[in-house]
Amino acid sequence: SGVERLGDMIAEAKRIVPFTGAGISTECGIPDFRSPGGIWTRNRPIPFDEFVASPEARDESWRRRFAMEEVFAAAKPGRGHRALASLYRAGKVPAIITQNIDNLHQASGVASDHVIELHGNTTYARCIGCGQAYPLDWVKRRFDEEGAAPNCTVCDEPVKTATISFGQTMPEDEMQRATALSQACDLFIAIGSSLVVWPAAGFPMMAKESGARLVIVNREPTEQDDIADLVIRHDIGETLGPFVGN
Ligand code: OAD
Ligand code: ZN
Repeated sequence: SGVERLGDMIAEAKRIVPFTGAGISTECGIPDFRSPGGIWTRNRPIPFDEFVASPEARDESWRRRFAMEEVFAAAKPGRGHRALASLYRAGKVPAIITQNIDNLHQASGVASDHVIELHGNTTYARCIGCGQAYPLDWVKRRFDEEGAAPNCTVCDEPVKTATISFGQTMPEDEMQRATALSQACDLFIAIGSSLVVWPAAGFPMMAKESGARLVIVNREPTEQDDIADLVIRHDIGETLGPFVGN
């Protein structure tokens, strides 16, 4: 079966790089983007230039974030996160590349230095001008007091969740580290991503071109199934559950 083959490939590998998307967190109660009921089936994305230009867009963006707070606050790592944390503790996984913003790899016990967040993190906020970090509580309090999204107390530029929106520059250090990891692994496992958003979706391909075996675990077909060595079109929790260890 696919799970047995994956087990063999994991046993043979010395340096495994997992690459995760929203599908690994759906069993934790966080919706993905493109499945039925997904975020982008309900709301249109607010591009970065619109967030910068429009106070209404900023207010809407924060209202959406506050509406999700209970979901994010209650979410616990799922079987997929726990399996990857086990492989990390076993010394097989140097770091995890993720498109996710939910902080669940860190919550599963992977050191934050070893979680490469390509699209940032939604559990805190940052000023888009000077980068000053703010807790979400602070943003919520100011929003409630003023009826509008707050600006930075240091430089007066808008404050945004510490995530990457469409049209926003990718984080340079994370891109470099993800590149180096993709080019120097022997097994690359893409988990729970439709692989349609670039440049993130370039990493599975880059790993394959650099000589790694490529495994894709995803319920639906993805853009890169045709170049994979193994495609497991099945539930992530069930597929990775057997690899949850100590
Ligand atoms: P998508 O919603 O595009 O893809 C998630 C994939 O996971 C889908 O193909 C689902 O079929 C699959 N899936 C969901 N739950 C699953 C489960 N329990 N078992 C197996 N498969 C499951 O999400 P991403 O690929 O992560 O970026 O989206 C990429 C980027 O698009 C995000 O990081 C975000 C978004 O716009 C930005 O906003 C910049
Ligand atoms: Zn600032």
